[in-house]
Amino acid sequence: MTSILRVEGGHPLTGTIVVRGAKNFVPKAMVASLLGNSPSELSNVPLIRDVDLVSDLLRLHGVEVEFDHKRGVMSLDPRNVTRAQRSDIDALGGASRIPILFCGPLLHQLNEAFIPELGGCNIGGRPIDFHLEILRSFGADVDKRPDGVHITSPTGGLQGTVIDLPFPSVGATEQTLLTAVRAEGRTILRGAAVEPEIMDLINVLQKMGAIISVDTDRTIRIEGVEELQGYSHTALPDRIEAASWGAAALATRGDIYVKGAHQPDMTTFLNTYRKVGGAFDIDTEGIRFYHPGGALKSIALETAVHPGFMTDWQQPLVVALTQAQGLSIVHETVYENRFGFTQALRQMGANIQVFKECLGATPCRFGQRNFLHSAAISGPTPLHAADITVPDLRGGFSHLIAALAAEGVSRVSGIDVIARGYEHFTIKLRQLDARVEYIGSIVQ
Ligand code: UD1
Repeated sequence: MTSILRVEGGHPLTGTIVVRGAKNFVPKAMVASLLGNSPSELSNVPLIRDVDLVSDLLRLHGVEVEFDHKRGVMSLDPRNVTRAQRSDIDALGGASRIPILFCGPLLHQLNEAFIPELGGCNIGGRPIDFHLEILRSFGADVDKRPDGVHITSPTGGLQGTVIDLPFPSVGATEQTLLTAVRAEGRTILRGAAVEPEIMDLINVLQKMGAIISVDTDRTIRIEGVEELQGYSHTALPDRIEAASWGAAALATRGDIYVKGAHQPDMTTFLNTYRKVGGAFDIDTEGIRFYHPGGALKSIALETAVHPGFMTDWQQPLVVALTQAQGLSIVHETVYENRFGFTQALRQMGANIQVFKECLGATPCRFGQRNFLHSAAISGPTPLHAADITVPDLRGGFSHLIAALAAEGVSRVSGIDVIARGYEHFTIKLRQLDARVEYIGSIVQ
């Protein structure tokens, strides 16, 4: 079953909304609680599907999870961690990639872990080879079977190791951190990702008793300790959600105050926003994003790992670029297949072409491999309403922005996917005076 949202577009989004903790951090901090010998407390937790899923997975493993939705406070008690039934893990695993990060903590607690078929957004192959190689490098035995991957730790436990990542993968860096903190001896991770969400995970682990240092050259050093305790922490805000609302303000010629948006995590986005012709005011509580009038400007943009322009900011911004004067170029260097969402934008009147070539200063891994990973957007093109289906989380939110910017009534189906990462998004849309209403469900 999937819900259909009726969107009457062509009206600027105006008003105030609040963003809470980052979807790309909170589930990982929840997993980290498994490593402690006492309860943890996490604040600023959003009510999103990925948080529900990880809560359910933790409960399956004996963790007591209590979540006060209104206050956004979650307590996690790992003192009775136990094995879970594989079939139960399997039943939950399909919707996200987070289960893979349970491996290190479970190997330390139970000497075994199991990875079911993984979900997450369909934005490329999304392999797990780095993760499996990392676990092997710590000494774990990794056995791929038809029902999933079975992993066991050797007698004597996991050992510190040296890892060179072929690409600064966020998940692989987190996998290393969550495994190394309690492995015996020192681990050196070279080529690590240093996204703000990873830095906040390091904050959590340090509070728990871990010893971790980060060098300027993407090297992270972890000295394993025998025991970790619970933590108390407030999650960093969701910079992807904040940027998505910022892009929505631009595309609809609106004015949105995003309470909770945090400038230091969004520097690159804000620079780009300004170059496109968007305006913003920053205060201690958040960021006001608005269209200052006049024409938007075209830009050349490349996505990259932090501190570059984040890949998850790309799709919402592309919608705004359809309204910019001239030719914009976007080169996607993180995922090979992240322009599928542009098909619906074309259907709505956008002029977007996608290319296999690297249309950017940095030749990337995808240039020689037939992936449509560069886009040329020619504007401004008025958008008109259409019936569209949400392809994935970020692409889906972009479709929603396009429908809100387009003249006429669009029907957006598959809308439930967006609840994986955007808290109360229809409530927030109404707070911004958007004309949206659910008109039923269809069975897919
Ligand atoms: C995380 C974020 C996602 C964001 C991405 C990059 C979460 C829940 N999701 O995803 O929103 O877009 O970081 O900032 O935090 N790769 C491999 N082998 C692996 C793992 C990754 O080849 O084993 C490749 C991927 O295919 C991709 C690249 O590495 O091309 C980056 O992926 P990665 O940084 O690992 O993304 P995630 O952690 O899955």
